[in-house]
Amino acid sequence: MADKNATLKLPDGKSLDFPVLSGTTGPDVVDIRTLYGKSGMFTYDPGYLSTASCSSSITYIDGDAGVLLYRGYPIEQLAQHCDFLEVCYLLKYGELPSRSQKDEFVNIVTHHTMVHEQLARLYQGFRRDAHPMAVMVGVVGALSAFYHDALDITNEQHRIISAFRLIAKMPTIVAMSYKYSIGQPFMYPKNNLSYTANFMRMMFGVPTEEYKVNEVLVRAMDRIFILHADHEQNASTSTVRLCGSSGANPYACIAAGIASLWGPAHGGANEAALQMLEEIGDVSKVPEFIRKVKDKHSGVRLMGFGHRVYKNYDPRAKLMRETCHEVLEELGLHNDRLFKLALEMEKIALEDDYFVSRKLYPNVDFYSGIVQRALGIPVAMFTCIFSLARTIGWIAQWQEMISDPEYKIGRPRQLYKGATRRDVKPIDKR
Ligand code: CMC
Repeated sequence: MADKNATLKLPDGKSLDFPVLSGTTGPDVVDIRTLYGKSGMFTYDPGYLSTASCSSSITYIDGDAGVLLYRGYPIEQLAQHCDFLEVCYLLKYGELPSRSQKDEFVNIVTHHTMVHEQLARLYQGFRRDAHPMAVMVGVVGALSAFYHDALDITNEQHRIISAFRLIAKMPTIVAMSYKYSIGQPFMYPKNNLSYTANFMRMMFGVPTEEYKVNEVLVRAMDRIFILHADHEQNASTSTVRLCGSSGANPYACIAAGIASLWGPAHGGANEAALQMLEEIGDVSKVPEFIRKVKDKHSGVRLMGFGHRVYKNYDPRAKLMRETCHEVLEELGLHNDRLFKLALEMEKIALEDDYFVSRKLYPNVDFYSGIVQRALGIPVAMFTCIFSLARTIGWIAQWQEMISDPEYKIGRPRQLYKGATRRDVKPIDKR
């Protein structure tokens, strides 16, 4: 029961009271679920600028303070002390695993990494030059055709096995999309490697040679996974929830999430940031580029800067910057042209009043493209890596929705602005 109310004054002079609900932290929400029944009116909020679409206990962001918590734990601590599968466990179950819980979890994931052999043949139906995200949407959607033994979402065992399959098979599917695009043989998973080392081997190994695991690079990839694992109710997560709200199976929901993530305003920004750095080309061109960005008529934006929610330094960007240093150092690329350029851009932007007054700080994408490029990942694969990492977030959010007693099929309403009722004329009279 809410102990606070918000009063809405209607145009006819009537007043309606609505309960104000408080979470454990963050802004209160006005519960307007009874508004239509009481007043015959809807609220209007395209883009959900002021609308909480659900309640959740998974991820919390304080954009003004630059805080990101998974299940209450700061992202900085998770990135420093945990590996990706521990973070998966945390997002899925709400608590960090003990050593034995972790061992069991890792063991189950490790033994689900292979895909149905016929799924491998599905790839042959795609053009080799298809965008790997197009392939991902198709292949992940097709998982429900291969694993239809566990699609009853009301059955807890089915939900559990589907979740494990998705977490375990995504690295295999992403790596296969890459191998297919370059015409190399698929690499089967190897169970004596960690989740992330196995992914690196499936991406960059070949059957003719022993793959040497580089722990620094594996740790960098693992960190990319951790930083992208969840980000509360963003477009792709909301897509997964909306899709799942109709009772669709989890593979179909995750495929829908991947489709949403593919958009340049969501998962594609690191690609854009890297392209921007390539275009600028040299540190000497930075002041001129910054001048263009500040000119409202130029239409140029500093890609990898600014965020709808973070009005402070994106905490993920700080960690990605650190990882960038480590990876470039390890690979002997500390004089990397684009990294130097990025540092110079960041320095200037953080001092410039245009950016300071608008609270425009680097976001995670400013550095993640440079790290992935150094790891040898082609630009077209960046969003696939993001979808691999975000799968656990989507699963956790989907599971939370399914078990929420207030769960209903998502059905937004609209402000109708089309023609009112009219009659159809016979075709020769139109
Ligand atoms: N470069 C230059 N000016 C900018 C930028 C930028 N990157 N971002 C915002 N502004 C200016 C904008 O012109 C506006 O100025 P004014 O008030 O004078 O009109 C002001 O800052 C507010 O901008 P806005 O577009 O209203 O802000 P928003 O919260 O709607 O946009 C954003 C957020 C991420 C779309 C935007 O900052 C942007 O386009 N950034 C570049 C693209 C990018 O890096 N996207 C990745 C986001 S992180 C992805 C993730 O978390 O999944």
